[in-house]
Amino acid sequence: MNEVLQNIKARHSTRVYTEKQVSVEDLSLILEAATHAPSGMNFQDWHFTAIQNADLLRQLNDKVKEAFAASDNPQWQERGHSDSYCCYYHAPTLVIVSGKADSSLTPFDCACALENIFLAATSLGIDSCWINQPGQTCDHPAMRTFLTEELGIPSDYRVFGCAALGYAPAGTPVKERKLKEYTVTMIR
Ligand SMILES: Cc1cc2nc3c(=O)[nH]c(=O)nc-3n(C[C@H](O)[C@H](O)[C@H](O)COP(=O)(O)O)c2cc1C
Repeated sequence: MNEVLQNIKARHSTRVYTEKQVSVEDLSLILEAATHAPSGMNFQDWHFTAIQNADLLRQLNDKVKEAFAASDNPQWQERGHSDSYCCYYHAPTLVIVSGKADSSLTPFDCACALENIFLAATSLGIDSCWINQPGQTCDHPAMRTFLTEELGIPSDYRVFGCAALGYAPAGTPVKERKLKEYTVTMIR
């Protein structure tokens, strides 16, 4: 199997991280890979906000919790009131992928970019996980203010997903991937 296919199969979600930070060189390569993703009509109406500041990440998590606490969803409310809840699993780096809110293509563009981020990270020996909660809460007023005023995300963009990046503790087991059956049809 060639290296690209091996890398695709090696990627997996990691939900526990050490404090070891991703180097600026590696982060730059990962962000460059993100910007090389395909986009509908080649509009590239996306923005990648990479955060390596622990205090800012804590503030982001607080805004997610604030929005969750104010929601009608019991599971979200529980997370919103939990002292230990951390949507990004204390990863040292988080890349927020946002895109133009009024475009029907942008969610797909951002998903393509996120997969590029995960695959580039895997190829560099960096662990990762898709983090959905900032996207789920980006329309909450306190979150919206934080995204635009603290992080500089354009006010007409919404968050479509985030990538936690970092390093799992040595020996962290990797769950064997169980593939759902009958998801592929080949017609020749
Ligand atoms: C659209 C999307 C949203 C996801 N959101 C989260 C999330 O918020 N938190 C999380 O831990 N994993 C999240 N995941 C990761 C999936 O749970 C994971 O990809 C799936 O269980 C398969 O495991 P694998 O990535 O190790 O192959 C998300 C994945 C996708 C594609």
